Amino acid sequence: MFRKICLTVLTCFRPAEFTQRRFHSLFLPRNMPIRVAVIGAGAGGLCAMRHLLARPDVFDGVCFEQCPIVGGTWVYTDRVGTDEYGLPVHSSMYKNLRTNLPKEVMAFPDFPFKDNLPSFVFHQEVLQYLQDYSDHFNVTDKIKFQTRVDSVRPLKSNNSEPKWEVQYCNVFSQTKKQTELFDAVIVCNGHYSIPLVPDIPGLDKFKGRVLHSHDYREPDAFKQKRVVCLGAQSSGMDIMVELSTVAQTVFISHNKAPLTSKLPSNVEQKPGIVRFTEDSVIFSNEDEQKIDSVVFCTGYKYTFPFLSESCNLKIENERVTPLYKHLIHTEFPTLSFIGICKVVCPFPQFHFQVLVALSVLDGSLKLPSQNDMNQDIEKDYQHRLSQGLLPRYAHHMGPRQWAYNDELADMAQCPRLDQQVMELYNTVHEWRARDAATYKKMNVTLEKA
Ligand SMILES: Cc1cc2nc3c(=O)[nH]c(=O)nc-3n(C[C@H](O)[C@H](O)[C@H](O)COP(=O)(O)OP(=O)(O)OC[C@H]3O[C@@H](n4cnc5c(N)ncnc54)[C@H](O)[C@@H]3O)c2cc1C
Ligand SMILES: NC(=O)c1ccc[n+]([C@@H]2O[C@H](COP(=O)([O-])OP(=O)(O)OC[C@H]3O[C@@H](n4cnc5c(N)ncnc54)[C@H](OP(=O)(O)O)[C@@H]3O)[C@@H](O)[C@H]2O)c1
Ligand SMILES: *[C@@H]1O[C@H](CO)[C@@H](O)[C@H](O)[C@H]1NC(C)=O
Ligand SMILES: *[C@@H]1O[C@H](CO)[C@@H](O)[C@H](O)[C@H]1NC(C)=O
Repeated sequence: MFRKICLTVLTCFRPAEFTQRRFHSLFLPRNMPIRVAVIGAGAGGLCAMRHLLARPDVFDGVCFEQCPIVGGTWVYTDRVGTDEYGLPVHSSMYKNLRTNLPKEVMAFPDFPFKDNLPSFVFHQEVLQYLQDYSDHFNVTDKIKFQTRVDSVRPLKSNNSEPKWEVQYCNVFSQTKKQTELFDAVIVCNGHYSIPLVPDIPGLDKFKGRVLHSHDYREPDAFKQKRVVCLGAQSSGMDIMVELSTVAQTVFISHNKAPLTSKLPSNVEQKPGIVRFTEDSVIFSNEDEQKIDSVVFCTGYKYTFPFLSESCNLKIENERVTPLYKHLIHTEFPTLSFIGICKVVCPFPQFHFQVLVALSVLDGSLKLPSQNDMNQDIEKDYQHRLSQGLLPRYAHHMGPRQWAYNDELADMAQCPRLDQQVMELYNTVHEWRARDAATYKKMNVTLEKA
């Protein structure tokens, strides 16, 4: 069943002669490969490297990763706060996490998970999958591990694309900086590391335990406790289910339409929180409950601390601009960002985003003018608002992701994603909406073409 997918994807590698012919839209004709810096060796960075390295005649890729291994957020650690080098812990994995998408949907289109695994796998198996992907495509050797990028700066030149000055250091000796120049930078630093914690009155007076899902690892400390999970997306629902197995009572609090899922018998659904006291929480329906702990499952913030001011990247209300198709910086098309979108099937989407970013670099995709791209961004945003989406949902995809993936595939002139992925994604969505506590026990299968 996967053989078919693998074969079709191969056609996205155009013959060298084709790419060389139109090599010049961003870079003057030259014999040297385009040097690309990839920041991060999570799924996004590995995918970028996999496609860069497949075309050594055109590209030369170097990947910078602060951790000692590949995998990004899938590298589980018991630690919270800072790691052994004093850097903030990157991963938000918890000990018993299983995927919320089946492996048949999660996989990169050119690299299936192992057949013998169930559909919903543990985080260790995703990490193994990413390591296998990295090894299979000979990416691992090209990664500078334990190397943190501190600064990325465009060195403008008059009539060609800027060079990028990338400054980095070894995590063991953070004062010794090194600098290298690149033709392009692909940013793949992830965006599920910096907690977004709402400012709720009285929180400073609350004496119980307060934590964000980023720092949640296991349920043991919540035995027989009364706990509130605020936020009912993936983290809120999943942690609520796990806590319900040990806690006395779990309140799942959120401001959305009422949940349709069955809930464990010791779970109560509540509206959002308006206030805390020393030992209780007050929900927006004025209901007050004594609680021991609150877990903020309220999401994460985008952050690109290494981009200099001169990169002109703005983050306002969780909207990152100016990124054409959530991907290409309109002022600097040699600066791209993999994985900005939320509520998506990440790995397949990274695949298409990477192929588009590389098509821009190799010249095979001609971009509209900067002005037209900026207008396209604004049009997309206004369209979202007109459909009733909140301003902070500028990069939320959900049902929009399939047309977006197809659009990217067409831009990169590569095969579109198998339609079955969308169908299975929607099926699983329905299962989860019906019973969040049991859907991960199911298996799905891709049908042979
Ligand atoms: C708790 C949780 C559960 C999830 N579950 C699923 C799931 O079930 N299925 C699914 O498909 N997706 C899931 N996701 C989404 C997940 O984020 C994506 O699958 C994917 O792993 C994101 O990859 P990434 O490369 O964008 O980011 P990351 O995996 O975060 O990788 C970014 C990498 O960049 C490195 N880095 C950052 N800054 C620097 C720097 N300055 N210098 C050097 N290196 C740097 C980091 O160390 C890290 O290795 C989950 C996410 C979370 C947080
Ligand atoms: N494999 C798994 O089972 C699993 C488990 C956990 C996480 N994940 C993944 O991890 C990523 C992050 O998920 P996430 O759930 O942590 O973040 P998220 O998807 O951003 O969800 C955060 C939720 O918190 C809500 N929220 C924020 N502030 C609030 C407030 N003051 N009051 C009430 N609600 C508030 C948000 O509501 P608004 O929508 O209104 O902003 C949103 O619903 C996703 O990719 C997810 O799929 C997967
Ligand atoms: C799903 O598949 C796994 C591994 O193949 C198997 O162990 C498990 O029993 C299956 N689950 C169901 C509900 O069939
Ligand atoms: C990886 O490198 C090995 C050894 O050089 C080579 O045989 C193999 O074909 C490479 N794999 C890929 C996918 O390019």
